[in-house]
Amino acid sequence: MNAIKLLTTQHRQVEAFFKKYKASDDNNEKLDIFTELADNIAAHSTIEEKLFYPAVYVGKLSELLHEAVEEHLAAKRIIADLLQLSPSHEEYDAKMKVLEEQIEHHVEEEEEKLLPKVEQTLKAPELEALGQKMEHLFETLMKQDPRQDVPQETDEAAPLPQEARFVKT
Ligand SMILES: [Fe+2]
Ligand SMILES: [Fe+2]
Repeated sequence: MNAIKLLTTQHRQVEAFFKKYKASDDNNEKLDIFTELADNIAAHSTIEEKLFYPAVYVGKLSELLHEAVEEHLAAKRIIADLLQLSPSHEEYDAKMKVLEEQIEHHVEEEEEKLLPKVEQTLKAPELEALGQKMEHLFETLMKQDPRQDVPQETDEAAPLPQEARFVKT
């Protein structure tokens, strides 16, 4: 699958989880939804940080990518908090709301600024090859409860390449 299509599809899935969460008033169900949501956000962030962002780290895009990894960091910190709480905690819904707002903003930045520029920069076969790698890594991660890695990723933002580059995929 094309890398951009893959990422936007996953964005819609994450939005659907937030919607489902808000519609629920059952704590067990809320925990299940959060667990799936956190796994999806964790695996999505990882494929972006390890494959997508480094592949498109060039010129002006590098500024956007530094913002992006900082936004990932902010979201991971909230997820790490939530992993330690249960939905009966009085701050749980509030943290979920802030997480949703964070993600909403981040997704908007990616879809309105980053992805259109990447689409102009990389050729269709490159986007296809990159997307395939990303999809494969995502599926592998999703089998390993990826949310559990999030608390170890809350000290600093994920590293980006030192120099601008196009990565041949
Ligand atoms: Fe994304
Ligand atoms: Fe992202």
